[in-house]
Amino acid sequence: MNFGQLSWGKTNRLVQIFRPDKKGDHHTVMLAVDHPYFYGPTTGLEDPRKTIQPLVPYADAISPAKGTLEYCLDPLVATPVILRVTGGNSMTRRQELSDEEIITSVEEAVRLNAVGVSVSVYIDSDHQKQTIKNLGKLANKAAKYGLLVLGITAVGANLEKKVKGEGKGDPDFDPGKYFAHAGRIIQENGANIVKTYFCENFAQVREGIQVPIVVAGGKKVPEKQALKYTFDAIQAGVEGVDMGRNIFQAENPTAMIQAVSSVVHKGKTVDEAYELYEQLKKE
Ligand code: 5RP
Repeated sequence: MNFGQLSWGKTNRLVQIFRPDKKGDHHTVMLAVDHPYFYGPTTGLEDPRKTIQPLVPYADAISPAKGTLEYCLDPLVATPVILRVTGGNSMTRRQELSDEEIITSVEEAVRLNAVGVSVSVYIDSDHQKQTIKNLGKLANKAAKYGLLVLGITAVGANLEKKVKGEGKGDPDFDPGKYFAHAGRIIQENGANIVKTYFCENFAQVREGIQVPIVVAGGKKVPEKQALKYTFDAIQAGVEGVDMGRNIFQAENPTAMIQAVSSVVHKGKTVDEAYELYEQLKKE
């Protein structure tokens, strides 16, 4: 993994998230639970105290927004937190999804003992400039405290279909080209980690981004398919996943997070990981 020339604090926070395996390679399984900040009570996140708290010990990091963190997750569990700090939108107004601002301050993230903050950047949307500026402002503030910035290549309403299998979509949208373009802009404007989606022609995305990359899982698919997605992304050189629905909406979320982790950290194949999933489900 490329640690760049970051400060001691940022480097140390990175290794808290990206755990070394036996060969010394650094990878991560982040558990994404920030959906309610714009989805409301997402399936599986209605009461995170019951559904998410049991998964947290299996995650290398969690990425909630403030409400879920303070009211639903146990501060005695020492899993690093990457706090979602942007918002201002809602799924009920899909066309306005890109209209985000910084909602939670960096000081608040420090008080909550986050190791980093996350921000969505909507390239090629109506609010491209505004969301790049959100990233820039956050990066400047976060640097004062040595906090990491995770920049998300968020796709607005017009691009969603091909990437996430939801929404209206644009038939001419080329995901590889888009994520290579968006991810590099996000890196250059201050992100220490880029979150994107795994897609066809991913080599151009990896080649053009030097910070660690994590991939979101997208819409819920059958468990074996989600394990294949994880395997393919790791083979393509990403440092990990920041996966939500394909873990917490799985038939057995505790088994699923361990199966995903076996691919990310232990190099298990899809069949081996699926076998592990089935075995853990029975226990
Ligand atoms: C939205 C987000 C989501 O929380 C995250 O990408 C969702 O994860 P998943 O697709 O795996 O459920 O960051 O911008």
